[in-house]
Amino acid sequence: MNITRDTTERPGVFITFEGPDGSGKTTQIALLADSLRSAGVAPVLLRQPGSTGLGERIRATLLNSRAEGNIAALTELALMFADRAQSIHEIILPALADGRVVLCDRYTDSSEAYQGAGRGLGAERVLALHQALCDGLQPQLTILLLPDVEAALQRARARNQHDRETHGTDESRFEAEGEAFYRRVHSAYAAIAQREPARVQTIGDGDIETIAARVRAVVLERFPALIERAASV
Ligand code: TYD
Repeated sequence: MNITRDTTERPGVFITFEGPDGSGKTTQIALLADSLRSAGVAPVLLRQPGSTGLGERIRATLLNSRAEGNIAALTELALMFADRAQSIHEIILPALADGRVVLCDRYTDSSEAYQGAGRGLGAERVLALHQALCDGLQPQLTILLLPDVEAALQRARARNQHDRETHGTDESRFEAEGEAFYRRVHSAYAAIAQREPARVQTIGDGDIETIAARVRAVVLERFPALIERAASV
């Protein structure tokens, strides 16, 4: 199989969304997808882990194993890349070859931030796996939703407090991983953005509509060919 993984040679557009838990990424992808659709551009949407048959099984396994607390950090990393390799093969490359706009909820930057920094496995190991298992396929644009770290932690604490008071639960993902983990993930994302300014566009705090408008502006600026189709966005 002769696959050129340089997306700049592809007719499609590959955009990923990244950010720590609670950054509002999933909402923003849906809003961008709505705007594109109403302008006549039907994007291909996927999330990682997940979206393929195998990927959704990997996602369920990961969530269960995490809940049971018996998943090794390296196993977690390997499963993330198994999922990614499958979705590249099954969804991303075919969609790009078809000239589609692909919006992907998390990609290798998540592995670098969560497994590389959060779990301490190191960025080099993650990037080596990216080369080996994804042939280095990179998005043309990554929208990084990176809230101010102190404000985000404060919101997470308030949410936990609220959950404890209203449901008697203390089981949010934030609580499970802890503040130090969150900080490591956050600074890894900031470092990635600094390292690759041409690919990664960071969007900071704001209300949902303000962020959505910034996301649209970044996408349309980067892909002028979409501007005509999306003039009414
Ligand atoms: P998800 O439902 O995507 O969370 P969110 O809606 O907040 O984005 O859950 C994915 C979780 O998996 C999230 O905690 C980040 C984590 N993850 C990794 O640790 N490594 C990875 O490579 C990916 C893709 C996700």
